[in-house]
Amino acid sequence: MDKANLNELLQAQAHVWNHMFSFIRSMSLKSAIDLGIPDIIQNHGKPMTVTELVAAMPTLNPTKACNINRVMRVLVHSGFFDVEEDGYVLTDASRLLLKDNPLSVTPFIKFVLDPVIIGPWHFLGAWFQNDDGNSFETAHGKTCWDYCRHDPRVGNLFNEAMSSDSRLVSSVVIDKCRGVFEGLNSLVDVGGGTGTLGRAIAAAFPHLNCTVFDLPHVLDGLQDGGNLRYVGGDMFEGVPPADAVLLKWILHDWNDDECLKILKRCKEAISNGKEERGKVIIIDMVLMEDVNEEGSNSVKTQLFFDMLMMMMTSGRERREEEWADLFVAAGFCHYKITPIFGVRSLIELYP
Ligand SMILES: C[S@@+](CC[C@H](N)C(=O)[O-])C[C@H]1O[C@@H](n2cnc3c(N)ncnc32)[C@H](O)[C@@H]1O
Repeated sequence: MDKANLNELLQAQAHVWNHMFSFIRSMSLKSAIDLGIPDIIQNHGKPMTVTELVAAMPTLNPTKACNINRVMRVLVHSGFFDVEEDGYVLTDASRLLLKDNPLSVTPFIKFVLDPVIIGPWHFLGAWFQNDDGNSFETAHGKTCWDYCRHDPRVGNLFNEAMSSDSRLVSSVVIDKCRGVFEGLNSLVDVGGGTGTLGRAIAAAFPHLNCTVFDLPHVLDGLQDGGNLRYVGGDMFEGVPPADAVLLKWILHDWNDDECLKILKRCKEAISNGKEERGKVIIIDMVLMEDVNEEGSNSVKTQLFFDMLMMMMTSGRERREEEWADLFVAAGFCHYKITPIFGVRSLIELYP
């Protein structure tokens, strides 16, 4: 083998190894969160040497202390920490892991990397050859919704993950999309979870009567207050009437037939026998066209979410034409897409 061929071969081997070991990046991140490392560095207030970091971790088994720098090396390499004056400092990414950052993404990481969610990935190959709805069902014998209902630990992890995302989205919605809510007197957040987005909208628009609608067990113990109320039910059977229906991260959980049923229920809710009709506000991804654009982080994120939907639900992420087909089939006349949440968009849909 000549030198050039050998070089290509070794590069290909490194590519395969990097791909094979990608999960180590996720798991190193999870261990740093489990050990509270981002908060420890934040509280230190200046670059923190590995000796200082180890000393600030009282629960660390002293025989393992010499390994902390190995985890940190991976996380520095992945952009979660920087090194300044021989000490670790936070980056924008690790600031998003801090406990008291209202926009923390830690609950989402804890859910996605929980063994209950990691396990079904091992069944993806088997799922392609069986009749199950998704590989979560192959692994656990029930849908993710049933699993969350019967295992409160996982149900709470899921709801916390959704709430943490909704805190971030709320701040963008309220800051950048005020016009979307103008002229509305009522809004129902369908599949609104424990109400993080609904509560934020109700507080920002006091004239708007807001309803958070979700499965009854999700709303257990939540109290109505001011212009916000909680209604339990099944969106496939009916949606409470309102001027606008909000669907955040709902339609990507369902296949086209199921989405049609949901959208038809939403159309009934905003029409409610009146001449004047409202709108449906969707917050979801619109898949970028060039999915092969090499190195694009946004494309990669969208493709990963699409795989997550395939693993856990009957849903998918959709391209604009796929959204448009659904809207027409559900009897809507026009839509407007505003790409405002990074890899996600706000879609206003009109009958
Ligand atoms: C991906 S979560 C999104 C939660 C919330 N909209 C958010 O983005 O934070 C999907 C939500 O749909 C709810 N859901 C699932 N099936 C439902 C049904 N048949 N009727 C009403 N809500 C349902 C789940 O309980 C969950 O809260």
